[in-house]
Amino acid sequence: MTKISGVLFDLYGTLFDVHSVVERCDQLFPGRGIEISALWRQKQLEYMWARGLMRRYCPFEKLTEDALGYTCNRLDLALNERDSADLCDAYSGLDPFPDTAATLEMLRSIGAPVGVLSNGSAQSIRRVVHHSALQTYFSHLISTEPVRAYKPQAAAYELGEQALGASRETILFVSSNGLDAAGAKNFGYTVAWINRSGSPFEELEVRPDVEVRSLAALSGWLREGDPSKRR
Ligand code: LAC
Repeated sequence: MTKISGVLFDLYGTLFDVHSVVERCDQLFPGRGIEISALWRQKQLEYMWARGLMRRYCPFEKLTEDALGYTCNRLDLALNERDSADLCDAYSGLDPFPDTAATLEMLRSIGAPVGVLSNGSAQSIRRVVHHSALQTYFSHLISTEPVRAYKPQAAAYELGEQALGASRETILFVSSNGLDAAGAKNFGYTVAWINRSGSPFEELEVRPDVEVRSLAALSGWLREGDPSKRR
């Protein structure tokens, strides 16, 4: 495999657990937290892709608020403005996955430059990363906002190659989101898919270069170069 010059991570769902909002959702709507969080995330992603195809970009915060509004309408839950703002605020305080910090520490130990490349706005990315106090691990926090596009649009991935100043095949792009991993591979990155749920990969004519079940397993692959699966 090509020598890796740097690593770019997807943010939401890859380094940080989007379902750490379940508790706040449950406080407002007891017993409905998991259902709300799942539909909310699904709609958030669908709206990213729909807006990308429609060329109707909007900031991540608005898209997340709109997805929550749909979710509560769909589930027949009365959501007032204050509660909507409170739940959306939870997205800026997501928990990192248990193996996020150790993986970043390992990458620091092997001297690889590490960044985030996310559809989140620059402000959202900063808030999430700084809330977890993990900002010192990143040389780049890259939002797709400047090009008014969302991954998996190529213009979004180009930002990563430009920021790291390296050719795309030498950059390892890491995502737990199958469509994001497919988009990154289509663009030309070397891609690691974090398949925590054991799902099949998306049928989009591309395959990730490595598939692992956790960030911790990715660390092992990067340290020893023995992929658990190589395609
Ligand atoms: C992101 C979403 C796609 O962080 O997970 O860009």
